[in-house]
Amino acid sequence: MKRVFSGVQPSGNLTIGNYLGALKQFVELQNEADAFYCVVDLHALTVQQDPEELRKRSREIAQIYLACGVDPVKSTVFIQSHVREHAELGWLLQCVSYMGELNRMTQFKDKAEGKANVTVGLYTYPVLMAADILLYDTTHVPVGDDQKQHIELTRDIAERFNNRFGETFVIPNPQIQKFGARIMSLTEPNKKMSKSAENEKSRIAILEDPATFKKKIMSAVTDTDNEIRFDEENKPGISNLLSLYSLFTGDSLDATVARFQGEGYGTLKKQLVEVMTDKLGTIQARYHELSQDPAELDRILATSAERARTIAEQTVNRVKDAMGL
Ligand code: ADP
Ligand code: NA
Repeated sequence: MKRVFSGVQPSGNLTIGNYLGALKQFVELQNEADAFYCVVDLHALTVQQDPEELRKRSREIAQIYLACGVDPVKSTVFIQSHVREHAELGWLLQCVSYMGELNRMTQFKDKAEGKANVTVGLYTYPVLMAADILLYDTTHVPVGDDQKQHIELTRDIAERFNNRFGETFVIPNPQIQKFGARIMSLTEPNKKMSKSAENEKSRIAILEDPATFKKKIMSAVTDTDNEIRFDEENKPGISNLLSLYSLFTGDSLDATVARFQGEGYGTLKKQLVEVMTDKLGTIQARYHELSQDPAELDRILATSAERARTIAEQTVNRVKDAMGL
């Protein structure tokens, strides 16, 4: 049985990068796997958060999962801190993880750069992520390209544990789409779009209104040679817009490139705004519908957390047993 686990941090408003790189896959995978989709609020604590804001945002993200098409009957949708075994296994795994391997994590280097006070949690966060995944005997982890290194680390930790203490963990595989795994910033197309980046104009939120995202698309950074073709290295801005168009419509990249051949950049941008308005409009309508019944969301989260806990508890018991606790 294919078992899927993935999570998103409640550390900002979910972007179209999160949607195309992660959530869209969540929806597809729930039909072929036993899927666990988590809002990883413990991870958000690695940087300072406003408590009320964090609580609100965690629920919002669960609601966005549902609005995008994650079906709580097929999938287990829950909030990480509701299942205490995540923190518990996180500690146990810290004691089989090495500082040397954490020092190599590029995301830590990026996030810590230039900051005066970096928490220990930000440093050890990949180990908590390993715990999240390993708790559920996960076989596949659908993520964007940026998480590849963390999944590798998870595999290393699990293999080391199994060698030292006997077969305990299932070794998970990253499931990264060949195309669309890395949506780029609209202002600096050499960087990935991120919900926690400082520049608002670099990203578009899933819940953003069309007038606002239209402005961002129309002023997205491109280049000056005025030719539409897909070339990520030399034309990252235009390539990103072509990818977005293809991913939002479901048309192949080749068909998309052919469609806009010989057109001006403005045409590509305008038509992209149209397809985004359509797709995001549907998600936003569902989101607002779900907002009418917050008690239903609470019920879904509670039932799911209970189901998750049953499995997580068994794993932690197995780990403690193996380690002599
Ligand atoms: P962010 O980096 O935006 O803060 P998270 O770290 O919470 O997002 O990642 C949530 C999921 O979204 C992960 O699977 C991650 O790989 C994916 N993801 C994040 N940014 C992008 C992007 N620009 N393109 C594709 N997938 C992305
Ligand atoms: Na990320």
